[in-house]
Amino acid sequence: RAQREYANVLVSRPSPGVALITLNRPKALNALNAVHFQDISEAMKEADEDVSVGAIILTGSERAFAAGADIKEMKDKSCEYLSLVIEYFRIKFPEVAEAYTTNFLADWEVITQLKKPVIAAVSGYALGGGLELALQADILLAAPSAQLGQPEVNLGVIPGGGGTQRLARLVGKSRAMELVLTGRIIGADEAERWGIVRVVREGSVVDEAVKVASDIASKGRIAVGAGKEAVNAAFEMSLAEGLRFERRLFHALFSTKDQKEGMAAFSEKRRAEWTHS
Ligand code: CAA
Repeated sequence: RAQREYANVLVSRPSPGVALITLNRPKALNALNAVHFQDISEAMKEADEDVSVGAIILTGSERAFAAGADIKEMKDKSCEYLSLVIEYFRIKFPEVAEAYTTNFLADWEVITQLKKPVIAAVSGYALGGGLELALQADILLAAPSAQLGQPEVNLGVIPGGGGTQRLARLVGKSRAMELVLTGRIIGADEAERWGIVRVVREGSVVDEAVKVASDIASKGRIAVGAGKEAVNAAFEMSLAEGLRFERRLFHALFSTKDQKEGMAAFSEKRRAEWTHS
């Protein structure tokens, strides 16, 4: 299948089973406007649906992963504007108003809806919506140059793409509050100490992400998908529910050929040949 081309996103295959999606709106430091975001969302979904892909990397440029939602696009939006859009769909398509209105922001969560693991490779600025985008990834790697923050308070708003919720879960209340209420930008070292990222050598963040992605892509896809789903459940369920969910998935994997093959290969001291079935 021919690779689709996108205006604001580059897609490549740096290694078998690995899709590399590079945000490419350099003039605006990869600020995320509606068209850019649609490209990201479609490229991610395309990679997720491609059976030859085992893991996806999302990256930006050396200077910026993404400097946030596009402020110039947002600046004239008002609450009246939003309610007008919603009202329009309600009148024009009453039966689908619900889908339209909820879909309006649903695309933002695209990464969390993918089955394949996503690795964010962050260099330079990951601010506002840029950090929120990275926080949706399953694994975060960062260059020493990375600068992370939620500076929305300086614009008279708050993070709107999950920043307050994901940071609070990830780094705890006080640190999340400090980022959200002061807009302070933290460097890669502090982000690593807080457990947000793993820092790699300058200039090697994409290479490191390709290594991790290739490693993941070399495993059985069903087990990888189940592992991702189970870890993500930890952020949404109580411990008791999460443990039950994990056990059910674990049991279900015993119905796969990959489980038979993986355990047979171990016993026979050979490499497993995954069939992803
Ligand atoms: N939106 C639109 N344009 C942006 C942008 C953004 N978020 N960030 C940078 N740009 C543009 C700049 O306007 C500038 O364009 P022009 O050359 O046309 O003026 C270009 O990118 C380069 O930026 P700077 O000249 O400002 O570069 P710098 O090195 O001096 O500063 C920076 C870099 C510190 C990242 C600074 O650009 C900055 O503070 N950007 C805004 C960061 C921000 O507030 N992000 C949060 C956005 S709100 C949000 O994301 C809401 C949400 O939760 C969903």
